[in-house]
Amino acid sequence: MSLCRLVYKSKTSWDILSNQLLAQLAERSEENNRMLDITGLLILSDETFLQVLEGPDDAVNELYARIVSNPLHREVTLLSYGQVPARNFEDWSMRIVDLNNLTMNPRELFRKKYEDREGYIQVPHDALGAMSLLFDARALCLAESGA
Ligand SMILES: Cc1cc2nc3c(=O)[nH]c(=O)nc-3n(C[C@H](O)[C@H](O)[C@H](O)COP(=O)(O)O)c2cc1C
Repeated sequence: MSLCRLVYKSKTSWDILSNQLLAQLAERSEENNRMLDITGLLILSDETFLQVLEGPDDAVNELYARIVSNPLHREVTLLSYGQVPARNFEDWSMRIVDLNNLTMNPRELFRKKYEDREGYIQVPHDALGAMSLLFDARALCLAESGA
């Protein structure tokens, strides 16, 4: 089976997004992704989504097409896509990390490392920077779960 990793970012807006919508998205996606053998992480920071999806080629491609056409976001930009020998985000079929609601300590750490605009951490524009943010979010989730 050929494994791939896909990373994209997109824009959303406070007008359409609510905590309830996000919770629904997480629940539905977790179920879907588990069935599709897809793992990954979805960051929300300021009004930007950044998501990494890992799994079988066909499943990731089909899911990405469904994600792109979702009206909850726009300007979906593919940052990286390629075959990988192993997963880096194997811990969750879907996990949302809301960087707008961080507690004090991690917030300060993220603000030191990434651009901060009026208190909101900015998702880097480049693929490497985005990957670094995804790894930091992963580390935060693992630390929170006591791993
Ligand atoms: C930012 C964002 C990330 C999403 N991530 C996933 C995901 O990881 N898995 C998933 O099944 N749906 C995800 N969705 C929802 C899909 O766009 C789609 O609504 C869902 O897969 C159900 O598709 P269906 O109604 O065609 O069955 C995401 C939507 C958005 C806006």
